Amino acid sequence: MARIIAGVSSSHVPAIGAAIDNHRTGEPYWQRVFEGFERSKEWMRNAKPDVCFVVYNDHASAFSVEMIPTFALGTAAEFPIADEGWGPRPVPVVKGHPRLASHIAQSVILDEFDLTLCNKMEVDHGLTVPLNLMFGSPKEWPCPIIPLAVNVVQFPPPTSNRCFNLGKALKKAIESYPEDLRVVVFGTGGMSHQISGQRAGLINSKFDHAFLDNLTKNPKKLTRLSHLELMREAGAEGVEMVMWLIMRGALDEKVDEVYRFYTVPASNTAVGHIILENRIKGAKKSAAKPAAKSKKPASKMKRAAALQKIHRVRS
Ligand SMILES: [Fe+2]
Repeated sequence: MARIIAGVSSSHVPAIGAAIDNHRTGEPYWQRVFEGFERSKEWMRNAKPDVCFVVYNDHASAFSVEMIPTFALGTAAEFPIADEGWGPRPVPVVKGHPRLASHIAQSVILDEFDLTLCNKMEVDHGLTVPLNLMFGSPKEWPCPIIPLAVNVVQFPPPTSNRCFNLGKALKKAIESYPEDLRVVVFGTGGMSHQISGQRAGLINSKFDHAFLDNLTKNPKKLTRLSHLELMREAGAEGVEMVMWLIMRGALDEKVDEVYRFYTVPASNTAVGHIILENRIKGAKKSAAKPAAKSKKPASKMKRAAALQKIHRVRS
């Protein structure tokens, strides 16, 4: 059977994509952002998922303001890269997994979540930037990707609780797929930022860190966050973080936080990132083993490295 091995959340700042595309990742401003994802890429190389399910939002690329679905599932075999005003990003075409996507559609819709099914859909930076951050810049993405576009651009977006429960339905759907597939679920967007109005430039690191803490240990608390609270604390565009709750809902109740990174700012946004692993029942091995050899048990080494990194980025 298919199983979800881990969840990954990451900001999807468009300027990060522009820095990659224009070969500016080595500049001091961008270096600290990309350095924070080096360990994530190592984790992903070891995890080797068969499929990634990526929750993101469309930025008027696939859907104009004439038509904004709340939850749009990509069921196509291929998703072309959208032209967001300066030509499509020079990244590989995203290949889908139509059979698993169709299975998810059936299971989730029969669980009373009314998805819009997209047999043709372009994908924008909301999806491609997190792929770059986790996979680097390969000639082909290493596994099929199933996109789920969530409306967070026009009021009202789905509630935090609705998103968390959709994650649970997604978990049920994936875990009932008969093929042995290892799946990683992405939640993207955030963290705190506001791009217009009187509070443009707002960043709330205290809120962001608390959100990350609760995402691991007490996600139920986050399901009670209203749109108003999210926007007040994390800025108008900070409401994107409801998408992280779909990822978290798709994981087990108890998870291991294996890595976290937070830096401010990138463009006008707080960049936040976390990797949460499901515990493998009856096995001591985690989803991704660290490459370095150590006499310490793998879990302790990972925990120590993660805490060291957390300390570094917070200080
Ligand atoms: Fe966004």
